[in-house]
Amino acid sequence: MSKIPLSKCFVNPEVEEAALRALRSGQYILAAECKAFEAELAAHTGVKHAILGTSWTMIVYLLHLAQGLKPGDEVIVPSHTAFPTMEPLIHCGATPVFCDIDETFCMDAEQLESLVTPRTVGIIPVHLYGHPVNLDRVFAIAAKRKLWVLEDCAQAQGAKYNGKTVGSMGQFGAFSFFPSKNLTVLGDGGCLVTNDDALAEKVRMLRNHGRKDKYHHEFAGFNVRFNEIQGAIGRVMLKHLDGFNDQRRKIAARYNEWLQGIVRTPVEKPWARAVYHMYVIRAERRDELQKFLGGRNIGTGIHYPVPNHQQPGVTSKFKNISRLPKTEQAVKEILSLPIHGEMTLDAADKVCDAIAEFYGKK
Ligand SMILES: Cc1ncc(COP(=O)(O)O)c(C=O)c1O
Repeated sequence: MSKIPLSKCFVNPEVEEAALRALRSGQYILAAECKAFEAELAAHTGVKHAILGTSWTMIVYLLHLAQGLKPGDEVIVPSHTAFPTMEPLIHCGATPVFCDIDETFCMDAEQLESLVTPRTVGIIPVHLYGHPVNLDRVFAIAAKRKLWVLEDCAQAQGAKYNGKTVGSMGQFGAFSFFPSKNLTVLGDGGCLVTNDDALAEKVRMLRNHGRKDKYHHEFAGFNVRFNEIQGAIGRVMLKHLDGFNDQRRKIAARYNEWLQGIVRTPVEKPWARAVYHMYVIRAERRDELQKFLGGRNIGTGIHYPVPNHQQPGVTSKFKNISRLPKTEQAVKEILSLPIHGEMTLDAADKVCDAIAEFYGKK
């Protein structure tokens, strides 16, 4: 059987032409393509400002610096997410306070209030695997306790929460354009979105050596600038995003249909239009199943095998970290199945067939 990959990047003549157009323009950094990509990203998300940077991690680091995040501050994050979600805040000397998950694998918003202390300054809900967090609960607690909310949309570009695009509801949202993401620039890249004029301005300046114009530096910044070739590529990818997300949803529906009763299929809440960055099942004998599927040339992944509250980079630095029973159980059972914007229903059927065979349910 030919390989069914876990994910796949879209590259067609339109993408190649866009890269060549930028290459031939003679402008390589933060010029017309980047400006147009920022405007298109802001419009697609439904916000005033989109600020491109070299990655989610770096643009969020700049945001935290602009916010004045400092040692002693606490930020509530899920443990079950990519490690980078909490890296920028750790670099600012702040403390991650970990929240357990609900049945969608996202932060359990019902737990938030019990985690707030006088030191809490913000919450980072992560729309994991492309499924939006229960944001009404997040915003209710944030408003009551005067906390900022940064939506981590790295895995959820184009997902909707009660009809609104993720990233447009918190004070801030951030996207990653890493190659596996729903929206990629075929390399590293990230973007901050916000309606906050002052912070947008500050992050833009931090991104470019603390300056507004070429020769006047108002404070020391960094170089987190974006480039024209990837900007041009990103613009093509953005045009295809909604179509690819629709196809991901069709693949997910096919998996749901076939796999119910064989494994635990992912939950989609009534408020959610998930975009299935990952299609994650909970499976008995998970490791054996993964090996079996590998033998059939079917790519799978585990996102993530070690929860962040148990990572050495966290446990060596922060003490008295609570256990998170739901997260710790989930990481033993989760398996990500192949899914991407160009995947066919036929390929999904082959994956389901192999899983049914493994469990003797064919
Ligand atoms: C949920 C989540 N947050 C943050 C990141 C960090 O993104 P980047 O690699 O662009 O820094 C990623 C991607 O790795 C992610 O999946």
